[in-house]
Amino acid sequence: MYRFGLLITVFAHLICSTTTAATFSVSVDNATVLMGGSVTLPCWLSPTMDAEEMDVRWYRSDYNKPLLLYRDRKVQSSPQMEQYQNRTALMPREPTSSGLKQGDVSIRIDRVNLQDAGKYVCYVSSSQHYESEAMYLKVEVIGAPPILTLSRTEDDRVKVSCISTGWQPAPQLQWSLGAQQPLQPGGLSHSPEADGLFSVQSWVVCSSSESQWISCSVFLPSMKEDVKEARVDLQINSFTTDSGASPWMTAFIIALLAIIALVTAMVLHLRKTKMKKEEVALGTQEEESHLLTACDLAYSEDMKIHAVDITIEKATAPARLKVAQNGKTLRDNGEALESDCELCALGNTGFSKGKHYWEVGLRMPNVPVKQFWWAGVATDSAVKTMREQKSTPTSGLWCLYSDDKSGVHTKSESSHYIYRAQRPEVLGIFLDYDEGRLSFYDTKLGQHLVTLKSSFNETVYPLFNPGQGETTPLQILSLPQTTPKPNDYVLNKV
Ligand SMILES: *[C@@H]1O[C@H](CO)[C@@H](O)[C@H](O)[C@H]1NC(C)=O
Ligand SMILES: *[C@@H]1O[C@H](CO)[C@@H](O)[C@H](O)[C@H]1NC(C)=O
Repeated sequence: MYRFGLLITVFAHLICSTTTAATFSVSVDNATVLMGGSVTLPCWLSPTMDAEEMDVRWYRSDYNKPLLLYRDRKVQSSPQMEQYQNRTALMPREPTSSGLKQGDVSIRIDRVNLQDAGKYVCYVSSSQHYESEAMYLKVEVIGAPPILTLSRTEDDRVKVSCISTGWQPAPQLQWSLGAQQPLQPGGLSHSPEADGLFSVQSWVVCSSSESQWISCSVFLPSMKEDVKEARVDLQINSFTTDSGASPWMTAFIIALLAIIALVTAMVLHLRKTKMKKEEVALGTQEEESHLLTACDLAYSEDMKIHAVDITIEKATAPARLKVAQNGKTLRDNGEALESDCELCALGNTGFSKGKHYWEVGLRMPNVPVKQFWWAGVATDSAVKTMREQKSTPTSGLWCLYSDDKSGVHTKSESSHYIYRAQRPEVLGIFLDYDEGRLSFYDTKLGQHLVTLKSSFNETVYPLFNPGQGETTPLQILSLPQTTPKPNDYVLNKV
């Protein structure tokens, strides 16, 4: 009797364990996500069974440091890898799935960063059995809009260079010349940047008779709908022929011995890692040497230690210019202009030595970003002459310009322009007087736009022009001031 009872107990136990602790296998899928987004890492049991009583452990390389541990019917707050705190949760891989009850042990990760890319292990254990499987997460990053640089070749054609930074994985690049596309690039290279991102650059040579415009598109193979494009009008008079320039253009054509070098974080990286020169597929030998000398121009928060406080004196401002009480907000007064430089204003502080940094705000909430503006430096005499004669200056103006036709660009005798699809919202300007460099940055994207190289031998003043008929005023931003360093020689305008 006793024996029989024991037998029943053992038998019952056996049935029990075969139904609740059956063996299972674990299945996973790889996943891809854009940086900053949320992603579900799929993992499930087969056959379908209840996992509520099981342990679910997701880890990367160290079993003892999971990013998520489910045990005793709840997610445990420790142990947990610190970098995943508050970013992970059990999450069914499909909205219709009822999760753990159906053996779905998938998790979600929020605010994905580049370090999250790589291998994950999904480990599931019941009291009788355990299984694990590895899956891989790919993190992709959409880079910055391309920057185009134009230069004229000796046979009077146009060389267009395109560069775009901050991509993961290495992006694809495509040129289009009007309706003829795609256009074969003259050179194409990818380069690793800091932080595991990639930049891409390429160039083509074309003639302005071939098409109205040329464009450079950069995109990830997996996300063809998210294309970053920059386009340039090849018919701009001032570029093709200096003589037939429009009045607006004429005002900017300035004789300066500037050479515009397009320098990016990538180039900086190239030099640092001493990569081969031919990978800098930008421009001629001459340009290249300027690129290499101007390498340390990547955007950096450190430039702000050279911040200067600039205001426009209402009393001395041009008649057509409206200056706010604080001397920092500029717009036109709505009257017709005879020359665009009637809205040019110089800051109250001049520089004849040292390094100086200031920022210009080009966007206000709920209004489109500014289209027309100039910002840079100029000598006092250059601006005065321009106003009186209403004609083309021949020297003393170093600026970045924006208008509706040419986009953001600079001008010089050697006809090097830069074009971008996207206008900066905050423009950072860094003057290194002694080195003869004036650099422009898109501070929001943390991107270097262009550097004008020259030798300054007169005092230069910050120059601003808010353009005509714009809803958004131009703002000179107030930056936290640091005490001037002994070699930052600041001159007050009289
Ligand atoms: C998941 O990604 C890894 C590494 O990239 C690869 O080896 C594996 O074949 C992929 N698995 C599936 C199911 O695509
Ligand atoms: C997670 O959230 C808790 C509570 O809100 C907070 O105390 C903790 O600092 C957060 N951890 C991380 C890494 O953000």
